[in-house]
Amino acid sequence: MPEVRVEEVRRFMVESLVAVGAPETEAKRHADLLVHADSAGHFSHGLNRLELYINDIKNGATNPTARPVILQESGATAWVDGCNALGATVGHFCMDVAVRKARECGVGWVAAKRCNHFGMAGYWALQAEKVGMIGMAFTNSAPIMVPTRSKQSATGTNPISLAAPAGNGDSLVLDMATTAAAMGKIEVLIHKGEPVPPGWALGPDGKLATDPQVAFDTSRLLPLGGFEETSGYKGFGLSTMVEVLCSGLSGSNATHNVPPWTHNQTESPNMGQCFIAVDPERFAPGFTTRVADCLHHYRNLEPVNPALPVLAPGDKEKQSAAATQHRGTIIYPQRQIDVYARVAKAIGIEPMKIHSA
Ligand SMILES: NC(=O)c1ccc[n+]([C@@H]2O[C@H](COP(=O)([O-])OP(=O)(O)OC[C@H]3O[C@@H](n4cnc5c(N)ncnc54)[C@H](O)[C@@H]3O)[C@@H](O)[C@H]2O)c1
Repeated sequence: MPEVRVEEVRRFMVESLVAVGAPETEAKRHADLLVHADSAGHFSHGLNRLELYINDIKNGATNPTARPVILQESGATAWVDGCNALGATVGHFCMDVAVRKARECGVGWVAAKRCNHFGMAGYWALQAEKVGMIGMAFTNSAPIMVPTRSKQSATGTNPISLAAPAGNGDSLVLDMATTAAAMGKIEVLIHKGEPVPPGWALGPDGKLATDPQVAFDTSRLLPLGGFEETSGYKGFGLSTMVEVLCSGLSGSNATHNVPPWTHNQTESPNMGQCFIAVDPERFAPGFTTRVADCLHHYRNLEPVNPALPVLAPGDKEKQSAAATQHRGTIIYPQRQIDVYARVAKAIGIEPMKIHSA
């Protein structure tokens, strides 16, 4: 598969967003979010999503020059209007407010309405972790999860994330959709021409879908855990927990009222997001040592297969990021490169240059 140098990917993303009207600062913030996802191996939430962000701006569903505003605040809390700005603009603003409040009060809790898609939830949790806090970030989404016993989609992939510092640059990072897999992973399977793993999605007949295009078009993802017999209601329950924190606190659309995310969307999705920062220094001394001890313990458990060591949450992404940094390139399916050659032509920028070793 073709490789593109990381800096060239970033250049392409920034120029694309600027070409459709984003200020350079916000385009760079958004590109950093997407490059982080691709570097960490979450190709569902990197370049794969850029075309949707571009089209949202072109169609007026996102306002790339808008800035979020605080509607109401107390020492530890803030209610924010995302003002329909780019996802990274709102994510950065809200977690920054949460961290400032956590410095003052020990905890900062921010809920925002009128938000757009903010990519990997864990990226925002890491913004707090980088300054020694526990970070948590959540978002609601479009209705593409089938609740247990339902024929219809109603809840979303509504991700949960938590990042905790463990000292010496290490961390525990849980970042997960509350469906068995994020929809973007099905899009990646379409690009690669690979089947959908069992337990991820239903087709129009209510049976497990194997064709990724059918799964994408049907938009009925199973909750984490799958069917009722395998405790799928817990994934459904977690998705509803995210709903309470996001639309419940912010007054945004609930997931079942969020319009589907398409290339022709003109309506703002008005999604809700929640950002929490907690200062561990306000609790028992030795927090990072205890997190480090957990990580050390898990990673040293005897594996079932010696070739597959036990991982802690966040380890897979760290390994991918280290491999990306070592190579200096990101590897994309040819089909995705072709899509962005067409996009580049349409918005009048230089296409991505393929790296030749
Ligand atoms: N913005 C949105 O609307 C939205 C919606 C859904 C998902 N997402 C994002 O999509 C991304 C992918 O989500 P996902 O649920 O498909 O991720 P995933 O299933 O690949 O990983 C989920 C979590 O499990 C951990 N993990 C993976 N393999 C492991 C192993 N063998 N042992 C221990 N831990 C392991 C990962 O480190 C991660 O913390 C996330 O960044 C999420 O925030 C965003």
